[in-house]
Amino acid sequence: MNKTLVQEQFGKTAAHYLTSKPHALGKSLERLVELTRPAKDWRMLDVATGGGHVAYTFAPHVGRVWATDITQEMIDQVKGEAQKRGLANVRTTYAKAEALPFEDASFDLVTCRIAPHHFDSIPQFLAEVHRVLKPGGILALVDNVVPAGPIGDYINAFERLRDPSHLRAWTMDEWRDALKHARLAVGHEEQIFKQMEFKSWAQRYDDTMKALLRAMLTQVTPDVKAALDPKGGDGDLTFRLCEGLFIAKKA
Ligand SMILES: C[S@@+](CC[C@H](N)C(=O)[O-])C[C@H]1O[C@@H](n2cnc3c(N)ncnc32)[C@H](O)[C@@H]1O
Repeated sequence: MNKTLVQEQFGKTAAHYLTSKPHALGKSLERLVELTRPAKDWRMLDVATGGGHVAYTFAPHVGRVWATDITQEMIDQVKGEAQKRGLANVRTTYAKAEALPFEDASFDLVTCRIAPHHFDSIPQFLAEVHRVLKPGGILALVDNVVPAGPIGDYINAFERLRDPSHLRAWTMDEWRDALKHARLAVGHEEQIFKQMEFKSWAQRYDDTMKALLRAMLTQVTPDVKAALDPKGGDGDLTFRLCEGLFIAKKA
């Protein structure tokens, strides 16, 4: 089978996502647990699990966690890591967000963190979430979000240059509309800013590409500069991205 762009990108970098600070330690992980208040008898599905951090965080609080992804290297890694951590209730399988291989009304909680900006169709993903959630079930969603208009377009272009499988991060308004359309009622939303280390973020590239990404970050209009907030010099350059977090319920 030919690999998709996502499978190519994430297959090559799977190990990075296990240790990457914004993924392994991001503030949104603890917020998801606080806000969803998971119970021991819950069946939970983590869509696009990547390095598996949401699955590991929730596993002690729920009955069963299905950690799913379309990149085999990620799935294998999460299986091994869950075993290493003694998390016996974690199961892994291949699942495309837009065609989940699970029965209707079979989960109490669906999570998805820092991934929908890679999906072919977010509306189709949300329709699938609605289908697999039990009545009263919860979607806990986190994804990078951007301001509307040219600043958001610029941030998406910057992210896409570094990772061509980054299709488009949405605005908070777009998420609100799409969740409403999918009949998932938003009970809570917030934005979380995260500081990114340029060195780690761009580590997969050679010096030419790093210089281009650095220029896109530092030689910018005041509006973009205010949004990305680049700080520091050559060795310790940082910038800022924003995550949108939504807790939504199926009626
Ligand atoms: C940045 S990683 C996810 C991070 C992870 N959820 C976390 O919280 O640390 C993005 C993941 O999305 C997966 N992915 C991309 N498109 C997908 C799709 N359509 N269906 C399922 N997984 C997908 C990739 O394979 C990759 O593992």
